[in-house]
Amino acid sequence: MLVMPLTVVLVGVMGSGKSSVARRLGEMLRIKHYDLDEMVEAETGLTIPEIFAAKGESGFRDLEREALKRALERPGVVVATGGGAMLQQANRDHLRELVTLVVWLDASLDVLASRVGDGSGRPLLSRGKIKSILRTQKAERKAAYREVADMRINTSKLTLEEVAQQVANKYYRMHSCVIVAE
Ligand code: S3P
Repeated sequence: MLVMPLTVVLVGVMGSGKSSVARRLGEMLRIKHYDLDEMVEAETGLTIPEIFAAKGESGFRDLEREALKRALERPGVVVATGGGAMLQQANRDHLRELVTLVVWLDASLDVLASRVGDGSGRPLLSRGKIKSILRTQKAERKAAYREVADMRINTSKLTLEEVAQQVANKYYRMHSCVIVAE
């Protein structure tokens, strides 16, 4: 009998709490956590706005796809994706091939907007009014999130601890099922 370690992947638009929840969940479950934006920054030595300026959004998406591959190389980790990562079919396909718990973190527009503040560090939010960009992204991306997600959490009225605990509870329930016969 073989027990496959479960990987948790967090998806959702900017401000949904992916990075903070991944960090907290890593502590709770005592497993390694990755953040795709941080991986891309470490790999290039550039900030996300610098990458967008130098290579454009498509250059950033290539780096993000490679980072996701690296993060998923070994099972049993927590991964915070960037808000746009699930727009790429290749990334969605990759998740489907693995034993993963994919969690869609969502929140109301007001909560998302308050969490991203003035949008600094997030180049896509400098292209217009923050709230209307987030509204459009929520609408345009929900099909991709829905396609991959095993679970959706509305984090609007929850603390970070409560969100991480909900994911951890699901993780424990699923983990006991991920037993693959040799
Ligand atoms: C993006 C979200 C950002 C970052 C980049 C693009 C997006 O990550 O990857 O600025 O397309 O929604 P967060 O969702 O962690 O802010």
